Amino acid sequence: AFPKHVRLVEMSPRDGLQNEPGPVIATGIKTGLINRLADCGLTHIESASFVSPKWVPQMGDAAQVMAGIKRKAGVRYSVLTPNLRGFENALAAGVDEVAVFGAASESFSQKNINCSIAESLERFMPVMEAAKQHNIPVRGYVSTVLGCPYEGDIAPEQVAKVAKDLADMGCYEISLGDTIGVGTPLKAKRMLEAVAAHVPMDKLAAHFHDTYGQALANLYAVLEEGVSVIDASVAGLGGCPYAKGASGNVATEDVLYLLNGLGIETGVDLDKLVATGEWITHELNRHNGSKVGQALGGN
Ligand code: HMG
Ligand code: MG
Repeated sequence: AFPKHVRLVEMSPRDGLQNEPGPVIATGIKTGLINRLADCGLTHIESASFVSPKWVPQMGDAAQVMAGIKRKAGVRYSVLTPNLRGFENALAAGVDEVAVFGAASESFSQKNINCSIAESLERFMPVMEAAKQHNIPVRGYVSTVLGCPYEGDIAPEQVAKVAKDLADMGCYEISLGDTIGVGTPLKAKRMLEAVAAHVPMDKLAAHFHDTYGQALANLYAVLEEGVSVIDASVAGLGGCPYAKGASGNVATEDVLYLLNGLGIETGVDLDKLVATGEWITHELNRHNGSKVGQALGGN
């Protein structure tokens, strides 16, 4: 059965902007985006990454972004933290939540965070401990859950294993990433079933990129199974620096339109969201990757 309520986790300031080519986007545009997203009614906004600026130059101003946003009550501003150093910098910047990110594929783990899956889990341990001490909730990502750019098919059992390890470590939620958007609905359903056999459904989130145009169909499939947390990016912004050819997350406007049509509550205002998507695509001189944004945006 479909959930009655879905929590949308907005990815655009992080997953959306991390891969933007060209010069580093001004901090004021990033904070302007985050403030607008909060005004749309989004309660979870992934705002930046505390990673190596050599690896991801667009996220190099994470501390300034966190300092520059207008904090709205009831909104959680989260960031990616690959290691303890990232966590400490994030804590100093006053984040509400952090996320560690692993993968179901060994090759992707190596390319993305320069270590094996087992090593990544070891690196996350001190982050988990420090986060617990400071009462900071930790989200866990598993990348390449429906396919890997280097290895192709990924066994659902392998996804389940990494997801369970992250949950056992103390991640309050596990976000399942179709990093390169290759999944199709039946595959998504089978993967989810394998994971849900080890991690409760209410701890799982869907993080689908839309490279092959399947993300909405895949979301419909996992919503039917009971997933109630969806990651999305306004205007479909984004990609992954270590997944060549990958396009952005499914557009938040498109997901919201689907959920509204299904009568599923989100607390998010579609008109404001469309305006935000139009604003950021204009600022970045970029194509609006949301179909709904194009239909309702009016320019
Ligand atoms: P490494 O080279 O293995 O580690 O990088 P290191 O400890 O040897 O550090 C290398 C350099 O990074 C050093 O600098 C460190 O000081 C620095 P140097 O001595 O060369 O000048 N460094 C840091 N700087 C700032 N903050 C830090 C930090 N840690 C080390 N926290 C590391 C390992 C993970 C750091 C590196 O590989 C990295 O930063 N990778 C970036 C990964 C990334 O951000 N990927 C994109 C996000 S994940 C994603 O998009 C997928 C997701 O959306 C889900 C999905 O779609 O599937 C989440
Ligand atoms: Mg992603």
